Amino acid sequence: MKTLIYKYLSIIFIFSLILLLPLKSNDTIIPISKTSDEYLILVNKTNPLDKNYIPTNLIEINNIDYIERKNETMQINLDVYYYLILLFEEAQKHDLCLTVFSAYRSYEKQESIWNKNKDELYVAKPGYSEHQTGLAVDLSRRDIGLTNNFMYTKEYVFLKNNAHKFGFINRYPENKMLVTGYLFEPWHYRFVGISHAKAIYENNLTLEEYLS
Ligand code: DAL
Ligand code: ZN
Repeated sequence: MKTLIYKYLSIIFIFSLILLLPLKSNDTIIPISKTSDEYLILVNKTNPLDKNYIPTNLIEINNIDYIERKNETMQINLDVYYYLILLFEEAQKHDLCLTVFSAYRSYEKQESIWNKNKDELYVAKPGYSEHQTGLAVDLSRRDIGLTNNFMYTKEYVFLKNNAHKFGFINRYPENKMLVTGYLFEPWHYRFVGISHAKAIYENNLTLEEYLS
């Protein structure tokens, strides 16, 4: 009799597991896809952000090399920071030295940058910069800075071949000015998540082309 009860109970247990499994996998799939689409936000010359938009999950950069500026903290989206640290660790393994020159920029910060340099081919007007999302970073070498000379460095070659593996794309590639609205910026990287970054990299696309 006991064995029969055990048999009966285990059949019920296995049956409920079978019923529950699909629910469990749906539960995990939905938030993941939601999160990755969140990183596909398009900010460009025709898609501005609200003046009052401030990302909620910003965190201060402090344990990778970054440019310190008076009365300023360098902030970035929390998830992006995680992948950026991994990217920096990989660069370090290859004896490469990367530095964060800029990450999250508030509307007001972008306004002050724009007021100092109104070069529309390199600088976004306030509200039109993806730095305001907290998902973009300017990376270069300390001795080179944000200049086109960065493209001749090993650090740039490393980013060109590896950034996508960590979810980043070069947002303003060479010869894509007519699509992106900006000249080549070898230093500007945008987090979109690993699977999207891989697809964009492998098909040689810009974010505009990927989303159209
Ligand atoms: N340099 C890029 C376009 C920006 O200002 O956001
Ligand atoms: Zn930038």
